[in-house]
Amino acid sequence: MLQRVQSVHGAFVSQPVDRLEAGSTRSHLDERRRKGERLVLEDLHLSFGTRQVLRGLNLEVPAGQFLAIVGRSGVGKSTLMRLIVGLDRPTKGRVSIGGAAVEGVQRTVKLLFQDARLLPWQTVLSNVGIARTPGWRDKALEALRDVGLADRSNDWPAVLSGGQRQRVALARVLVGEPGVLLLDEPFGALDALTRSEMHGLLEKLWFRDGFTTVLITHDVAEAVALADRVVVMNEGRVTFDVDITVERPRRRSDVQLSALQDRILQGV
Ligand SMILES: Nc1ncnc2c1ncn2[C@@H]1O[C@H](COP(=O)(O)OP(=O)(O)OP(=O)(O)O)[C@@H](O)[C@H]1O
Ligand SMILES: [Mg+2]
Repeated sequence: MLQRVQSVHGAFVSQPVDRLEAGSTRSHLDERRRKGERLVLEDLHLSFGTRQVLRGLNLEVPAGQFLAIVGRSGVGKSTLMRLIVGLDRPTKGRVSIGGAAVEGVQRTVKLLFQDARLLPWQTVLSNVGIARTPGWRDKALEALRDVGLADRSNDWPAVLSGGQRQRVALARVLVGEPGVLLLDEPFGALDALTRSEMHGLLEKLWFRDGFTTVLITHDVAEAVALADRVVVMNEGRVTFDVDITVERPRRRSDVQLSALQDRILQGV
């Protein structure tokens, strides 16, 4: 696990720790949550021409929660992400983050896609510090350290593996200190081992920083292994909603998780 500790200079630095502690309960998590923002979706409708994609979707995500959304292809999951980040506006209904209505692109909401979308003509460090905010080099290097790639900061994206590129993309969103992190099938293109490593990394960073996390995935096993709560989208609404209270760190073989997976698959 990674912990934030105050250095002698007063700046926060990251120290690598191996893994989440056994018996990490929700109350432990609550103590650590700092950056997360509450997300509220009220009666969201969205149509493209005559095609109604969202039809009165309601969802409230408490600050710092790790939510997974599953649903069939084409049900409107990516469309929903675009509304949350403020790239599109609903036909009807309201999105609010931290109590404020979303009316344009949100600075505190970050989106991570299946492909890393790095700029090939910029080094890894420059990609991570792409926003060029004051002190960006130090912050970018710290974020690369968080994802275990500080030693690759001067490389070009082209020489990295797919999993490494995705870690760079994760570092780039972390630099922005998200209040809400949206992940749209971020691990779908990775092999099983790399995906499992990315799960561990994401869980550690979420646990440390406490940003509200919304993970879209087709993989129900991934959803129950990582999330506090899983919702199913169907016909433009949330049709199934279940809390996952299994303690962390979770074992994939846990019988409770398998039972939850079966229930969710029946709801999809
Ligand atoms: N800009 C657009 N113009 C017209 N139709 C669109 C547009 N964007 C999305 N759609 C339609 O909205 C529906 C939902 O698309 P969306 O990409 O949100 O699905 P999804 O749940 O993310 O699917 P997948 O799991 O395959 O990624 C689809 O029928 C799609 O064709
Ligand atoms: Mg999609």
